[in-house]
Amino acid sequence: MEWYDRHRRDLPWRAAAGTVPDPYRVWLSEVMLQQTTVQAAGPYYARFLARFPSIEALAAADESAVLRAWAGLGYYARARNLHACARRVATSGGFPRTLDGLRALPGIGAYTARAIGAIAFGVPVLAVDGNVERVLCRLGAITTPLPAAKKNVAALAARLEATRAVEARPGDAVQAMFDLGASICGKGEPACVLCPWQRHCAARAAGMAGQLPARAAKPARPIRHGVAFRLTDSTGRVLLRKRPAKGLLGGMDELPGTPWRDSAWNEAEAMTFAPHPAGWRDVGEVRHVFTHFELRLTVYAAEGDAGADMRHPDQAALPSVMRKCLEGGGRRKERLF
Ligand code: ADE
Repeated sequence: MEWYDRHRRDLPWRAAAGTVPDPYRVWLSEVMLQQTTVQAAGPYYARFLARFPSIEALAAADESAVLRAWAGLGYYARARNLHACARRVATSGGFPRTLDGLRALPGIGAYTARAIGAIAFGVPVLAVDGNVERVLCRLGAITTPLPAAKKNVAALAARLEATRAVEARPGDAVQAMFDLGASICGKGEPACVLCPWQRHCAARAAGMAGQLPARAAKPARPIRHGVAFRLTDSTGRVLLRKRPAKGLLGGMDELPGTPWRDSAWNEAEAMTFAPHPAGWRDVGEVRHVFTHFELRLTVYAAEGDAGADMRHPDQAALPSVMRKCLEGGGRRKERLF
């Protein structure tokens, strides 16, 4: 805690030392940080908060406005859950202050309930995200590879929860672990000589801090292929359609195109999915990595007007992969198909 008091990061959602944090801000930041880094989350957080300054403002908004504000952060089911959660919390007059109460809300799992519980409400628990997991694997010299080691990590976290630091200052203890994992005990070689725990760290004592955590080999990410059609008019509007509400990028907007599949598309096949007769030109390939697969989209561009379904990109809820398809031509391919 002494180390944290000296070295705590100044983060946009963090309350000043010794002040009570706003649960809405804590919750919003934790949901954003489930899927993006602290650095990347900053501008989204600021914009989102300016647009929806309170849980009531968020609850009163249209889902489409929330999806638009979330666009680019990925995992859009989370934006829908965020909105559903805001409505529940606004209706019941505030966030529940217990882990069980928090967990019962849409989009809040074990980790997020603990983070919010500790930071916003002083529940004496730790929250183990990827960074904290690394710190704990090192502290306890846990050599079992992740994810099997999660049980050992949870057991060590439970022991730390019984310490005075967590009991007296749970929110700061949780955030101190985040900061340690993001700085001194980061990925790669840790800076043990600077670490407040250097004399307590079993991995350091064994000279193996840099080798931990051990990880089981991941299966290779499969590649899926598709073709997207970008029809633009002279005013910058594009032809868009809405994805189905359920599933990947559910409810977001996209360029029309072929389904995505394991094999590449040839031009004749792809053209049967072209939404509008036009002079389609192959303008390159866009690659985008999702959690479970890599998507390669060949983009065809044309100029024309398809009427009512043409919209300005600013008025759409566009996921990152579709933003890439709208920008220029993507990468050139050596072969067309
Ligand atoms: N990672 C997850 N939650 C965090 C927080 N509140 N501060 C810094 N890093 C985090």
